[in-house]
Amino acid sequence: MLSSLPAGSNVLVQGASRGIGLEFTRQLLAEPQVERVFATCRAPQTATALTSLAAGEPRLRVLALDASDEDSIRAASVAVASVTPRLHLVVNCAGLLHDAASGISPEKRLADIRPDALATSFAVNALGPLVVAKHFEGLLAHNERAVFASISARVGSIGDNRLGGWYAYRGAKAAQNMFTKTLSIEWARSRRNVICVALHPGTTDTDLSRPFQANVAPEKLFSSERTVRQLLGVVDALQPEDTGRFLGWDGAEIPW
Ligand SMILES: NC(=O)c1ccc[n+]([C@@H]2O[C@H](COP(=O)([O-])OP(=O)(O)OC[C@H]3O[C@@H](n4cnc5c(N)ncnc54)[C@H](OP(=O)(O)O)[C@@H]3O)[C@@H](O)[C@H]2O)c1
Repeated sequence: MLSSLPAGSNVLVQGASRGIGLEFTRQLLAEPQVERVFATCRAPQTATALTSLAAGEPRLRVLALDASDEDSIRAASVAVASVTPRLHLVVNCAGLLHDAASGISPEKRLADIRPDALATSFAVNALGPLVVAKHFEGLLAHNERAVFASISARVGSIGDNRLGGWYAYRGAKAAQNMFTKTLSIEWARSRRNVICVALHPGTTDTDLSRPFQANVAPEKLFSSERTVRQLLGVVDALQPEDTGRFLGWDGAEIPW
């Protein structure tokens, strides 16, 4: 149970159509402290798992938000603000490692680099959470505890990079981490109620990891249910002095 959330909390899950974001939405709806869940996805019309969850659940509102499109982020923030003046938790889940439609897959070597794929990866993984912060900041400006969490990835750690490859995803997640840290410093001055962190979920059985699961030991491949349970535990335990940290699913610090 998320005992750190104030009663009547409003939470937002960004990137909720599938995978970890969809599971955050499910588990947050089960939290007694949560009054409303705003779940965003870029194409509600095709996000059938999310929209069917919303069908029987008036506390869940599905909104369109494309993490690479500032106008859609602004429009979603206006829609949330028309319902509530306060958010207590924002979880940025949208992420991109591969995409068959645009032929994006993780690079093995320099020759695989495609500037358009790099730009797309940066737009979704790095710029998305930062632009979300820009437009949702006003909803976090209150006197109650609030957490702004962005799901990052250990492979975005520069200090922990031992294997190389995956240029676009590693670079974009490293940039996402830098934005999270920089934002945490600004908010430590101006939004002292907000704890701003980057979180590594662990390898989780979703569409994102599926092509790369062959060499993952079964005990190291988490279900989305387990990942989100663990991450909500980390979120619940956050203290104000944790702002600006990069934490794993077990609460352990990950080097930048
Ligand atoms: N799974 C893992 O092992 C793992 C490990 C480390 C970190 N992560 C991170 O965890 C987060 C969630 O990943 P996942 O495993 O749940 O991946 P997933 O199942 O592939 O889901 C990715 C989500 O991102 C959304 N998305 C992609 N581009 C978007 C855009 N432009 N605007 C809005 N939403 C967009 C997708 O929406 P659509 O349905 O519209 O495509 C989908 O909801 C990501 O940030 C990922 O980098 C995952």
